[in-house]
Amino acid sequence: MNYEFKDGLEFAQFLDNNDCLGYLRKKFYIKNNSIYMCGNSLGLASKDSEETTIQVLEQWKKEGVKIWNVDNNKFYMYSMHLAKLMAPLFGADHDEVAIVSSTTVNIHQLVSTFYKPTKERYRILQDDINFPTDRYAVDSQVRLKGYDPEDAVKIVKRNGKYLNEDDVIEAMTDDVAILLLPTVYYRTAQVLDMKKVTEAAKKKGIIVGWDMSHAAGVLEVNLKELNVDFAVWCTYKYLNGGPGSPAALYINRKHFDLLPGMAGWFGNRCETQFMLRQEFDHRKDAGGWQIGTPHLLSMGALEGSLKIFSDVGMTEIRKKSLKITKYLIDLIDQKLTRFGFSVGNPREDSKERGHVCLEHGEGYRISLALKARGVVPDFRDPNVIRLAPTAFYTSYEDVYKMVDILIDIVTNETYKEFSVKRNLVV
Ligand SMILES: Cc1ncc(COP(=O)(O)O)c(C=O)c1O
Repeated sequence: MNYEFKDGLEFAQFLDNNDCLGYLRKKFYIKNNSIYMCGNSLGLASKDSEETTIQVLEQWKKEGVKIWNVDNNKFYMYSMHLAKLMAPLFGADHDEVAIVSSTTVNIHQLVSTFYKPTKERYRILQDDINFPTDRYAVDSQVRLKGYDPEDAVKIVKRNGKYLNEDDVIEAMTDDVAILLLPTVYYRTAQVLDMKKVTEAAKKKGIIVGWDMSHAAGVLEVNLKELNVDFAVWCTYKYLNGGPGSPAALYINRKHFDLLPGMAGWFGNRCETQFMLRQEFDHRKDAGGWQIGTPHLLSMGALEGSLKIFSDVGMTEIRKKSLKITKYLIDLIDQKLTRFGFSVGNPREDSKERGHVCLEHGEGYRISLALKARGVVPDFRDPNVIRLAPTAFYTSYEDVYKMVDILIDIVTNETYKEFSVKRNLVV
């Protein structure tokens, strides 16, 4: 990364003027006088997404049920259509990716597909700092097979704030059937070494699954090279697919012959789907893991957004993401630590980022004070303000100004005007 930190607004503006992705900002809807730092939770709407959403709506208005037939069945096959844009961002073949359901449902779908416990091999390896939905899903899958999660879900414990890959590898005992871990941690933004963990698991005959929700649209990942068995990710964070946009699943083509754990008529072969036979005729690609009718209106926005990602490519996106998050970390180190702030991210480029994990004992009230000043962060208990400068729509000037606002909030203690009582959605 070609970058030497300097303080001052002028330096931020210099970085903006030399940002080769800066032209993308005007594609997004950014509220006046607002600094949006929440792309790790919900990405902003783009004009491209608006256009493709309206296109779907227009087709529905014009065609009614014939929407399924227009454009060579584009919308009937919409998952496949979007997978062609999505798969190259993850180094996957397009028929290994489906755009479907939510991440949690996809975890259920893929764990139920792969989890075939025997007396000797019946445990699923997880950790104790992942986003909890993964754990809820895995626990319930284990229960459905008649096992007790206390025994059958093997938890690798954190080391301080982070998970150590060597601890994961040590936990790969012969009774482990499946491993499911996140690529990037939702709180600290720690990046796990997917290669190291996957290779070790493969040597042990363990099925490997990754939740890439916080990696999608930020990290360069090559699923084919890694040879993982399955992966899931959501599309509403950095991928800017819109609130509740459908998630993605990846299934390695060597597993296409497996039957889905949760079958439905959209996983049937296209050629026989509308024959409506009682026997399931499994489609032998990722589309075979679809369940019901695709959510066209929610998928529309994703099409526009993915086109931007395809045009730019993940290499440039990762470069900008690393640089702008490093810039924020440098500003924190130089200007905020004296006010009790600290950076919760690991400090090596390979292990950190997407977002910046800003810690402070008064984090919650400071996050409310930020919102009152037009900055949009989010907060994770007990003390983490998550700040996500994104490659497409965050400027260096935004980052610089936000740090100034933080200094003002703590210097004047304006956060004390807010209640510590948590909102329903923080
Ligand atoms: C790692 C991870 N997995 C899954 C989810 C939730 O996925 P969904 O709501 O699409 O089921 C999140 C949400 O933030 C997440 O951070």
